[in-house]
Amino acid sequence: MRMYDLIMKKRNGGTLSREEIEYMIAEYTAGRIPDYQMSAMMMAVYFRGMDPEETAALTMAMAHSGDMMDLSGIAGVKVDKHSTGGVGDKTSIALAPMAAACGVKIAKMSGRGLGHTGGTIDKLESFAGFDTGISEEHFIRQVNEIGLSIMGQTADVAPADKKLYALRDVTATVDNLSLIASSIMSKKLASGADAIVLDVKTGSGAFMKTEEDAFALAREMVTLGNRAGRKTIAVVSDMDQPLGRAVGNALEVKEAVATLRGEGPEDFTRLCKTLGTYMLVAGGAAEGEQEAERKIARAIEDGSALKKLAQFVEAQGGDPEMVYDTSRLPQASIIENIVSEREGYVEKIDCEEIGICSLLLGGGRETKESGIDLAVGLILHKKVGDYVKAGEPLAVIHANDRERLTMAKERFLGAYHFGDTPVQPNALIRGVVRE
Ligand code: URA
Repeated sequence: MRMYDLIMKKRNGGTLSREEIEYMIAEYTAGRIPDYQMSAMMMAVYFRGMDPEETAALTMAMAHSGDMMDLSGIAGVKVDKHSTGGVGDKTSIALAPMAAACGVKIAKMSGRGLGHTGGTIDKLESFAGFDTGISEEHFIRQVNEIGLSIMGQTADVAPADKKLYALRDVTATVDNLSLIASSIMSKKLASGADAIVLDVKTGSGAFMKTEEDAFALAREMVTLGNRAGRKTIAVVSDMDQPLGRAVGNALEVKEAVATLRGEGPEDFTRLCKTLGTYMLVAGGAAEGEQEAERKIARAIEDGSALKKLAQFVEAQGGDPEMVYDTSRLPQASIIENIVSEREGYVEKIDCEEIGICSLLLGGGRETKESGIDLAVGLILHKKVGDYVKAGEPLAVIHANDRERLTMAKERFLGAYHFGDTPVQPNALIRGVVRE
């Protein structure tokens, strides 16, 4: 087999066989197919697409390109959760302890942030001492003992995807449905959970800008998961404006803690409860959705969800007292209001731009190697549909550098669009895909 022939076949609209896809992934992972040929293939796939059989073959070839984690040492149904990424998306930090407090076993691998979206692993490092690089043995022991662990993606899980994703990131070939679905699901399948709950985002801050594309991605991933014998459910949710009010690592952790206390923003709380409901059902911790909803509400009311977060932080070497006293989380030295220059209804917030503001403040990575400032970010006071008077605060900005603050402020103001008539925000939950 020759990579040249495979590129030409796809370029001309042909269908790659399973053997051809397996060959391409194995050779690329081993370094025997150069990046320039794989770039050409990715661009051909971008324009020609892949059918469900090709997507499934690509997913399985990437999942098997490294270690398939064996979680059989953990008793019960192991549930994983994944979001396709967004701005202010701190869901795992609140949701995982919520679901674990209700008896679901959560063994989750997460990534760091790149570009305008944040990553759970970075956010968790806001807890002093928190170790996201624990061993597989520690991970399994911890899930058996307290029902929850989140660790960083190891290099051995789906290495083909790691290499390919970095290539797609710099060749404008990320936002293709088959490539996103196979990338996400290869990692999820290799991570070993029995059931997977997906949060597929749609809107200006998401990869899938339209609801139609988000549902197509959700269907594709649910099919891939179920075909591989993992119970998979996807919720399609709004990412046309940031989720909740906090954007930035430690600020998002604080908001997640507030949510576990029952004091979180309405949209974020609702999303956590919705995803939690499906996690409980998939994990066998509730008979049906109503029972799951009741259990989650109780775990928040009786403090067991918050206690589970503290237990989880401590089990991974972090300071659990920070959960009870969030003023001990990293704090920025400059905290200022960003005031509105206009009066009117907030008509639209360019979500990606808000993510970029956090990046400019130092809260995200410019490159894979750069460090991040955990303390910086924004707290939005006004969201879509709110009425604002000129001079009223739109947000509070947390910064550690004046120059960065000025840049971010300017960009922030440009991300808000106003109108003179009342505006109805988009529905948060757009639908659920099960089969
Ligand atoms: N997240 C991933 O892991 N892969 C993609 O291709 C897009 C988002």
